[in-house]
Amino acid sequence: MNVAKTIAEVRAARWQDPLRTWGLVPTMGALHEGHLALVRHARAENDRVGVSIFVNPIQFNRRGDLDAYPRQLERDLALLEAEGVDLVWTPDEDEVYPPGFQTYVAVETITQVLEGAARPGHFRGVTTVVAKLFNVFEPARAYFGQKDAQQVAVVRQMVRDLGFNLEIVVGPTVREPDGLALSSRNRLLGPDERQAALVLYHALTAAQDIWQRGVRDGSALRETMRAIIGAEPLARLDYVSAADPITLQELHNEADRVLLSLAVFVGRVRLIDNLLLGDGANE
Ligand code: PAJ
Repeated sequence: MNVAKTIAEVRAARWQDPLRTWGLVPTMGALHEGHLALVRHARAENDRVGVSIFVNPIQFNRRGDLDAYPRQLERDLALLEAEGVDLVWTPDEDEVYPPGFQTYVAVETITQVLEGAARPGHFRGVTTVVAKLFNVFEPARAYFGQKDAQQVAVVRQMVRDLGFNLEIVVGPTVREPDGLALSSRNRLLGPDERQAALVLYHALTAAQDIWQRGVRDGSALRETMRAIIGAEPLARLDYVSAADPITLQELHNEADRVLLSLAVFVGRVRLIDNLLLGDGANE
């Protein structure tokens, strides 16, 4: 496995054998089974697999969140080696944002809601770094998790708008046996908080139940989730949403598909989760 620090090293490895197809899995490290499932997906569909590990400072809107973000590079590299990854990029901040950096990519409309509203500047940071990763690796396919549903919608929009020559592949959300979505932030939870964190999945599945019984009213879906979060003393709701999966606008009328999503503080840790319901849903 080739571990590269500089853009020049990535390009040299990437173009060693120009006829091979590359799959790219962008990450911020502290890898778990959710990331590794994307790596396996990429492994199955491409000749070569590249992974980036970079805790992207410009997508964090809270300094404390950036400082607390788990970092464990040696362990991550061992996991990726075991998955048969060909190339890992672990750049220093200066390599991604050289002194005097002043060029950003911003998707304008669908970033105004949900995570974008709750975390100003977050998606501008994501699209800027993802655009740079796409330019550095030039992959045929790039792999993202449904866990971050709005990130998928925003990256797809950027790819369409700027004409990136690659396919976005989305992997299903990987969960603990009890339903908690895997997240690098879960390891920041204390034991009581870990138990309380289940409330996200309980809220989503309760709304899924009423959807399956025929309820199509967005406000009823949102109210069901809100009530369940409200009953957990260790949880503080940031937002609940029942939205169109593409435009991310809140549903007020009947719809065939809905993206249920929510963000909840459990103690000091902010967790997000979602379920896509209806035609073509993958969960
Ligand atoms: P990170 O949070 O490290 O996630 C990397 C990828 O793993 C993302 O596509 C994310 O959706 C996916 N992922 C995380 N948890 C998952 C789970 N439980 N099941 C399935 N997939 C999961 O997302 C980012 O990093 C950054 O924003 C990044 C795209 C790397 C840009 O900095």
